Amino acid sequence: MRNDINFDKITLGVCYYPEQWDKSVWEDDLNRMAEHGIEIIRIAEFAWTIFEPREGGYSFDFFDEFMNLARRKGMKVIMGTPTATPPVWMSEKYPEILNADIDGNKIYNGMRRHCNLNSPVYREFTAKIVEKLAEHYSPYENLIGWQIDNEINCECDRYYSESDHEAFREYLKNKFGTLDDLNREMGTVFWNQTYSDWNEIYLTRRTNSLGNSNPHMQLEESRFISDTVIGYMKLQADIIKKYRRDGQFITTNGIFPNIDYQRLTDDVLDFLSYDSYPNFAYSVNADPAKDRGMRDRGTSRVLTRIRGFSNTFGIMEQQSGGGGWNCWLPQVMPKPGQMRLWTMQSVAHGADFISYFRWRTAAFGTEIYWFGLNDWQNRDNRRLRELRQIKSDIDKLSEIAGAEYKADVLVLCDYDNEWDRDEWHKMCDNVSSDAWFAYLQKNHIPYDTLYITDKTDYDEIRKYSHIIYCHPSIITDARADLLKTYVASGGKLILGARTGVKRINAQCDTRDLPAGLTDLIGAYVEEFTPLSRFEDEKYITADTDKAGAPVFNEVLTATDGEVTAVYEGGCYDGAAAAVSKSNGMGCAYYYGCAFGEDTAALAARLAGIRAPYSYLLELPEGTELSVREKDGEEFIFLLNYGTDSSQIFLKQPMTDMLTGQTVSGARSIEGFGVSVLKRRK
Ligand code: GAL
Repeated sequence: MRNDINFDKITLGVCYYPEQWDKSVWEDDLNRMAEHGIEIIRIAEFAWTIFEPREGGYSFDFFDEFMNLARRKGMKVIMGTPTATPPVWMSEKYPEILNADIDGNKIYNGMRRHCNLNSPVYREFTAKIVEKLAEHYSPYENLIGWQIDNEINCECDRYYSESDHEAFREYLKNKFGTLDDLNREMGTVFWNQTYSDWNEIYLTRRTNSLGNSNPHMQLEESRFISDTVIGYMKLQADIIKKYRRDGQFITTNGIFPNIDYQRLTDDVLDFLSYDSYPNFAYSVNADPAKDRGMRDRGTSRVLTRIRGFSNTFGIMEQQSGGGGWNCWLPQVMPKPGQMRLWTMQSVAHGADFISYFRWRTAAFGTEIYWFGLNDWQNRDNRRLRELRQIKSDIDKLSEIAGAEYKADVLVLCDYDNEWDRDEWHKMCDNVSSDAWFAYLQKNHIPYDTLYITDKTDYDEIRKYSHIIYCHPSIITDARADLLKTYVASGGKLILGARTGVKRINAQCDTRDLPAGLTDLIGAYVEEFTPLSRFEDEKYITADTDKAGAPVFNEVLTATDGEVTAVYEGGCYDGAAAAVSKSNGMGCAYYYGCAFGEDTAALAARLAGIRAPYSYLLELPEGTELSVREKDGEEFIFLLNYGTDSSQIFLKQPMTDMLTGQTVSGARSIEGFGVSVLKRRK
């Protein structure tokens, strides 16, 4: 069981900034929140200067006044630790707490996240403020949990100040022990990078080309940043754990680069939260050609990842208005119904807590155009009316809290490949992961995502009938063994081109490719090429099926595997493009190319991936299907992302949870509409 939120009903919340408004509006705000069904507020994640206006001069009066009012009003609170944004006095007096850019130039106040997580001074200030807050606020009985920091690694996921270079050296010493080992693993003999002293080592510095440096070191750099962040979050969590009362949880929000969220969730948090802004798909400069018709539905892909870390989780910031900073990325306003649709999208994927960003649009600062539930004028408006509708719907769904998402298909990924600066891998992976997501979504095949490591246990993957692991260029023997166990135990595994080309240090594996997996697939790679856009598109054919062979083509030589598809056209015409090898009930399928949507469809057909609910209902492509299950009840979410109504057909009677009626046969779901059906399994 992964770290879960454990709420006993689906609950609504909102992000509130008491320090940004006159105290005279607090009471009315809290009253109106309650009237709209808001039961929890998140506060204080940027309020360091209010808590510590001068060094060591802590002050709790302001937030005590607010907390006492919230308590009187019956409002529960999640408190953020304010470490995402250090105060001005601190950076002036201790400039070493500031982050630096790749050239070592300091990054100052004005935005946020300008802090240096490896600075011993910043860690000391962090420890002190967190200790003071945890000690002072944990006794409040309306405080239900803590959010550590805010969106760590958002806007800045690289760190180059002096203390980071020093910490990197320590990290490498701990990992490699000797300079000889480090030099060998990092391939430093190439281009005269051999180190003869630890102090010669730096995080990436300016080089002759596009921020490129030693690729093996750059992969270590991402691993180091992840370690830094997890250590920094743990520093805070350990302090909070000394003071928190029973039931007060620890979480953090969002998914950002260079963080291993599996480890962060397992080692530090009670559950992970996500900040869901589906309207990024409707930013005025988004490119519609690139999203395969997914638009705001694309958020389901990230929600699926979150569910890999916490089966049930919270949305700390759910979009409630159009977004945009004064200087950046204007978005259209959500259309009537979209806020409700996005809320249900979160719930459909496992969120049992939904907190809207934010109660009222800021009247000053960078985010004056990031719209909240209330406009500046505080009049009743369309978004508040929609919130009232959502509350009335959510109350009808409360029994869903804790229900597990149902999927037979697992998509594997891992941080080593995500962080490796390998253009060949990224070319394949970007195309294939988009294509599989679109294929599975449009064909109503629910799936889960899991980040694997060498420690992943077979028990975590055994329940899935199919695993798709598109392009694990870096793979270890432990992971290859896990895949072999899975297939030997009856699982069906789909792999794509460039599997197993590299070892864990991102050096090429000199064994036959896919290294460590040739026996499993019954073939090896004979030769390969990336494809040029100037050439004609390439295809593979299997029986009468023809599909694209985009991005990269490998010619395979079957040993004891069966050739399932060949290339059509081009200089690889007729050569083996895909193989499969059965192992008892299980089977490994290997494709020597990346996957377009049609290639995914072909691969799904050959591997026997089917829409598991087609015996129950018929749905158009544009409607998402998600199913959660608890105590023998299935909760079926149907989400229509289009403006037009979608026509569905229910083959069995089910309960419509929003109307309470028993429904069957032909039905329609209005544009941006949602239907939640319940049936006994
Ligand atoms: C989130 C962040 C919030 C706010 C919001 C809108 O990323 O956590 O503090 O900035 O976006 O920009």
